[in-house]
Amino acid sequence: MKREKGMALVLALALTLALGVPAMAAEEGAEDGLLTRGELVTALFTLSGAEEMEPKQAYFEDVPMRGDLALAIRWAVGEGIVNGYGDGRFGPEDPVTREQMAAMLYRTAQSLGLGFKGMWMFRLDYPDAGEISDWADEAMHWVVMNGILRGTDRGLEPRATATDDQLSLVIQRWQKAIVDGEGETRSDIDYLALVNKLNSLPEGWEDKLLCVTTLNSVGETVEAERSAFQAYLALMADLAENDGIYLELDSARRSIAVQQGIWDRFTEKYGAAYTAKTVAVPGTSEHHTGLALDLYFRLPGEDGSFTDVYYNEDMMQYPEIWEKIHAKLPEYGFILRYPEGKEHITGYGYEPWHIRYVGDAETAREISARGLTLEEYLAGKEAPEVAYDYGSSALYTREEIGDAMVQIRCRFASFEGCELHSLTYGGDWANNEENIAWMNELDEGQGYTQVIAFLSDFHSPAAGGGAWEPDTEYKNWQWWLARTEGGDWNLLTWGYDSWSPENTTD
Ligand code: DAL
Ligand code: ZN
Repeated sequence: MKREKGMALVLALALTLALGVPAMAAEEGAEDGLLTRGELVTALFTLSGAEEMEPKQAYFEDVPMRGDLALAIRWAVGEGIVNGYGDGRFGPEDPVTREQMAAMLYRTAQSLGLGFKGMWMFRLDYPDAGEISDWADEAMHWVVMNGILRGTDRGLEPRATATDDQLSLVIQRWQKAIVDGEGETRSDIDYLALVNKLNSLPEGWEDKLLCVTTLNSVGETVEAERSAFQAYLALMADLAENDGIYLELDSARRSIAVQQGIWDRFTEKYGAAYTAKTVAVPGTSEHHTGLALDLYFRLPGEDGSFTDVYYNEDMMQYPEIWEKIHAKLPEYGFILRYPEGKEHITGYGYEPWHIRYVGDAETAREISARGLTLEEYLAGKEAPEVAYDYGSSALYTREEIGDAMVQIRCRFASFEGCELHSLTYGGDWANNEENIAWMNELDEGQGYTQVIAFLSDFHSPAAGGGAWEPDTEYKNWQWWLARTEGGDWNLLTWGYDSWSPENTTD
């Protein structure tokens, strides 16, 4: 095997793409949720970043000749990380004990140039430390010293079987030890780079990026920028210890091809309109930077098991959990990138799971404290206080009214230097026959069946300019939108002149 030290982790994604995602999801493990030798070796192989395999004389009768598992086991035997049973079998389905897991993690770390060098001294302060087998002693010391394996109330339990629930946590801690141990963590990138519907990934970005690859609890490989990943690990530890919230990473860095796959899947499942508000066009996703992380979490059950809360619609059911997560983001250099009420600026609907690393806690604190999006912060703008009044409607839901408000704010963003103060639902009366006919006159051939109207107050810039009187409060400015029932709102006209003469009361 050829390996450039320090580059190993960076290369892990290339390897994973070449081989496919390793098969190690919990449901594929031993029936009772125990971690198997095959699963652990596959996970370590992916994390090792092994880039080139020399043919190894390591074929076992109980391992298929080809495929991910075969490659992983040949790699692990070749690196001296694990041996077969000496009788032609490897036992890929056999469970792993905690001390065996420690030994495999340690030998993988050693194959990356880490581990104890020369004399070492670290005391294992656990009542059952004496039960550790001799062959696992050094490994157990190293993994405990690095916080990778932790004791339970009962001690270290070296002979207890490991569960596949423990795997993702252990892997993340192992990853942190590797990242910390490898020195360089900052990429030579602009941590405040803006990537959105109008700004693609800066040229040459990939060449400056330092990445880390990890595995999440559903067995997917996740790649992230190194500092962002370290910050995530610290956030994860804080939330687990202090709030009982168990974070996981869904996706972080995405290639254009992966983004295209997501775009296609969403279009099929949710339709084009929802997809456009939710998924970036490939090439314009912040996920290409490696600085954007999509979170999910695991809910602990009373029996000690965990349930993944993974799908968007399921995650939306836990606003109280998101509130706690969001409160901690700035301390670790993250901002919530697509907040509620800023859809007209970010271009995307509210995503409680999508966080963005901005380089340091100080910047993140400032952006969050001022209530800004990254777009507003970089443009040096303050977020104005806008009073939204949804009124009460027997015709439209709050969400439908909100969708129309987003369109208005989008348009208002082009009113240069103007500051919006209020936006008020105009009332159900506006949806009358005359107004529907009026909208169809303005935009012929659309067959609009519904109308919605709003009033707004805003202030013009001190210097005036364009159509604006200088420094003036414009009150009751109107906005008119129409749609075919069930479709999207179209903003058709705005201003003072557009008020239809029939609508002078109410
Ligand atoms: N969900 C975000 C907008 C993305 O696809 O990048
Ligand atoms: Zn995202």
